[in-house]
Amino acid sequence: MIRYPDDGGISMTDGSVLAYIESLYPAENRLRRQIIDGCPLEHFGHIVAGDTARVLSLLVSLIRPQTVLELGTSIGYSALAIARALPAGGRLITIDHDPRPVACATRLWVEHGLADRIECQIIDARQYLPTCNRQFDMIFQDIGHKPLYAGLFGHCLRLLRAGGLLVAEDTLFPLKKGLDSPSGQAIHQFNRLVAESPGLASVLLPVDDGLTLAVKQW
Ligand SMILES: C[S@@+](CC[C@H](N)C(=O)[O-])C[C@H]1O[C@@H](n2cnc3c(N)ncnc32)[C@H](O)[C@@H]1O
Repeated sequence: MIRYPDDGGISMTDGSVLAYIESLYPAENRLRRQIIDGCPLEHFGHIVAGDTARVLSLLVSLIRPQTVLELGTSIGYSALAIARALPAGGRLITIDHDPRPVACATRLWVEHGLADRIECQIIDARQYLPTCNRQFDMIFQDIGHKPLYAGLFGHCLRLLRAGGLLVAEDTLFPLKKGLDSPSGQAIHQFNRLVAESPGLASVLLPVDDGLTLAVKQW
């Protein structure tokens, strides 16, 4: 584990590996830094690493989804990474129960000319998902309350179209936080659900704190 020099967060990626990757893509990390510094809030949900943001943009460029659902908006960095890569007509629906970071997120998307591709709802995911009946080509799970990864897994599968992609952040938490911690245990439960789901083809990649990619095959 290493500590990010810029914001005190902790990554599972080895320091020299991270430093090398970041040296190749300095613009992404400058953007991430600016977004953190530009937000007046003292506390907000930890945003994805620059590396993860690039993976999200790349995945969206590859699969060209028309509809993406993000669980956990915070100050809007991962939403920006998804929205900037959407094809024409593509839309991102992102939800968060905390209006304070979402206000920063909204300003960010306007600044980057992406607001018209993003629909943000301030709502608890436990309320939103059971009543939602839209179909999504991609779902990005990054909710701060980690027991909801497993708790909302069935709804995510229901809302994902066949062939759709589920992406989940922080899936190496069982190693980072320890299996005896509540968040480590919660993510371990989610990881097992994903790995043992017969209709999913999945992989857990050691990108930052762990990034799971799972395709719904049927
Ligand atoms: C890790 S942050 C999201 C970071 C964001 N995806 C990014 O990288 O830019 C997690 C967010 O989940 C939100 N959250 C936690 N519990 C929630 C719930 N029950 N319903 C909706 N949002 C929730 C928090 O308010 C927080 O902003």
